[in-house]
Amino acid sequence: MRPREVVSESPKDRTLQTKPKGLKTATPKAKHENGFSMWVIGRKRNPEILSILRDSRDEHPWAAYLFHQSSPTLISPNVPNSKCRLEPVPFDDCIIDRFFYVYRDSSQEHLAGGGITTRICWDGRPETLPPGWQGAVKSSFLDSRASDRPVNTLVPLLAFTASRFRRQNASSAVLNAMCRSGQEQGFRYAIIPALPPLQFTREYAGIAMEELAKLRRQDGQPLDHWIRVHLKKGAEIIGYCEHSHRFALSLNDFRANISSTPILQSGYHVVESDRDVVLRLSRETAWQRIYADLEREIVSFDWGCVWVRYDLEKLSFD
Ligand SMILES: CC(C)(COP(=O)(O)OP(=O)(O)OC[C@H]1O[C@@H](n2cnc3c(N)ncnc32)[C@H](O)[C@@H]1OP(=O)(O)O)[C@@H](O)C(=O)NCCC(=O)NCCS
Repeated sequence: MRPREVVSESPKDRTLQTKPKGLKTATPKAKHENGFSMWVIGRKRNPEILSILRDSRDEHPWAAYLFHQSSPTLISPNVPNSKCRLEPVPFDDCIIDRFFYVYRDSSQEHLAGGGITTRICWDGRPETLPPGWQGAVKSSFLDSRASDRPVNTLVPLLAFTASRFRRQNASSAVLNAMCRSGQEQGFRYAIIPALPPLQFTREYAGIAMEELAKLRRQDGQPLDHWIRVHLKKGAEIIGYCEHSHRFALSLNDFRANISSTPILQSGYHVVESDRDVVLRLSRETAWQRIYADLEREIVSFDWGCVWVRYDLEKLSFD
């Protein structure tokens, strides 16, 4: 059985219901059968979406959590030209869609998961992929303003599942809703700069993305659970970017916002990112390979991505 999905443009309009069709291998577990719904606020800039949420806080008490999330930290995506970005990341000026996968129990609504999509103009060739997540955000911003670059490709920028709903296929429900929205817009592809959580483990911090994507469990499935989700659902890997998110910041900002690990000499180090709240990583996935230049008091580090592509024409909805 699949969760009931409700798709609406506004919190007041909860009438437009779509029957969940589900992607190829996505069969959410029975736990999702009751009480779950999908709320989509589409084609707006992030500040407008936050304002809609602010206005509906009584109906959606979980929105408080999102406001906490969206208060800028040094490495928040919506801080263009912040002290640690090497170039502007115009996230707040992009047209995006936000997906909220909510669960209603007898007393109130909870946020089970969600995500963000945007759209770009892309010719379908792996060679012309934008440089990772930051590149996709920049393309989205520029393409939405260029009359000769009609947007034709969905780019999911984020998917998350709240801690208590993890390991129950919630991310699959979110990806389904995203892909369905791409189909409804007539797009051929959804391409995702997937951020493999394994790169944030102590063992694999700093590993090349192509190498990481090749790691397998005993059953032959990808070791990284986020890559595994995509491949199981029918996506294919079409590229890698080692600097999907790229950061450079002063040593002081690094110590205050990223890690308390003492850095005693210049060079590469694997540190525990115990002060980074952006991804709300667990203790197992809170490691980061950084480069420190103590003479200039600068730290830089990158997050890599594995580009996966969903062919929206070929996805078999049952
Ligand atoms: C990645 C994420 C969205 C997966 O969400 P989810 O709803 O728990 O995923 P699923 O229930 O579909 O689980 C898929 C697989 O991942 C495994 N898994 C889920 N969370 C895991 C974790 N923290 N560590 C290891 N494996 C995990 C599940 O056991 C399942 O494994 P299986 O293929 O053997 O069945 C979630 O862990 C998350 O929100 N992480 C933080 C944000 C993030 O990294 N997002 C992705 C980059 S944008």
